Amino acid sequence: MRAVVLRTHGGPEVLTIEEVDDPVPGPDEVVVDVAATALNRADLLQRMGLYPDPRGRQPEIPGLEFSGTVASVGERVRMWQPGDRVMGIEAGGSYAERIATHERQLMAVPESIDLADAAAIPEVFLTAWDALVLQGRLTSGRWALVHAGASGVGTAAIQIAGAIGARIAVTCSAGKAGICEELGADLVLTRSPHDWLTDALDAVPEGFDTVLDVIGGDEVDRNLQAVATRGTIVQVGLMGGGSTKVNVGMLLGKRATWVGTTLRTRPLEEKVAVTRRFAAEVLPLFDSGALQPVIDSRYPFDQIADAHRHMEANANAGKIVVTLR
Ligand SMILES: NC(=O)c1ccc[n+]([C@@H]2O[C@H](COP(=O)([O-])OP(=O)(O)OC[C@H]3O[C@@H](n4cnc5c(N)ncnc54)[C@H](OP(=O)(O)O)[C@@H]3O)[C@@H](O)[C@H]2O)c1
Repeated sequence: MRAVVLRTHGGPEVLTIEEVDDPVPGPDEVVVDVAATALNRADLLQRMGLYPDPRGRQPEIPGLEFSGTVASVGERVRMWQPGDRVMGIEAGGSYAERIATHERQLMAVPESIDLADAAAIPEVFLTAWDALVLQGRLTSGRWALVHAGASGVGTAAIQIAGAIGARIAVTCSAGKAGICEELGADLVLTRSPHDWLTDALDAVPEGFDTVLDVIGGDEVDRNLQAVATRGTIVQVGLMGGGSTKVNVGMLLGKRATWVGTTLRTRPLEEKVAVTRRFAAEVLPLFDSGALQPVIDSRYPFDQIADAHRHMEANANAGKIVVTLR
């Protein structure tokens, strides 16, 4: 099969496609003919040699999510059969024509969603739902604050907050405010020239019950000022840097919770648990129309380096899908 293999690390030019062996399913595994994959910020870091596949697999094939059809199944597989439309997350290996994954990590593609477009669902909707609802305890009527509202994670978060009846404020660059409003954000805070914190607290003086932060860096201190008493900050990314100075006294005074999370490094049992719960509770909302994948652009597989350049330039609003067939 054809796959992107990282023989060296660096700029988008290191993403070369070569022939590698097809995966063989283990007893509990399914091999999927990949219709499409979608980009995540982690892919850029992995390409630069900064975020390796935690399983250490060789050859090193990046790619955290995929959609496609079941090609073959292991002897103990009960949930799927060849031809089924599926999607899922993996710790790597999705930039390839075929991927093997545990049967319980897969989800059925909602009937209303195009097979390739479904690649834009798993990573960001699982992340946003897990961060806002499971870890961030967001419920109907409460306020969420989400940074980078037009990112893949942000566009999923806006829709999830709307679907559960919560209210949501987002930060983003000025040119991306429109898409956040269209998706249903209640308050859009452009980061410049305004100070988003002042505007946020003017609008929601009691503070935000749940803060989903993908920036880190200097935003951490502002998050502590923005979070409500007994609220929760869920740290999902560090695009603005991992080290910063904060007033830890605010965490104590507000009796707030600050949680860090990643999906990629979780053990199989934890990934299966969150996937099965998402499949039961959230997937039906795609067929009802409450949720939809937000697709910025589609690139053919042999132009995957251009897709990386597009994300690196912060030019996307929503997901960048890479189609393989
Ligand atoms: N923990 C997990 O399991 C998990 C899973 C998925 C994603 N993530 C993290 O979530 C984040 C978003 O990922 P994504 O794939 O959704 O990204 P994405 O679609 O590429 O969107 C990223 C957007 O963030 C904004 N941005 C970039 N650098 C920034 C900075 N330094 N300060 C403020 N805003 C910045 C830009 O939008 P503007 O034009 O609006 O500035 C950029 O387009 C990443 O940090 C990623 O690693 C974590």
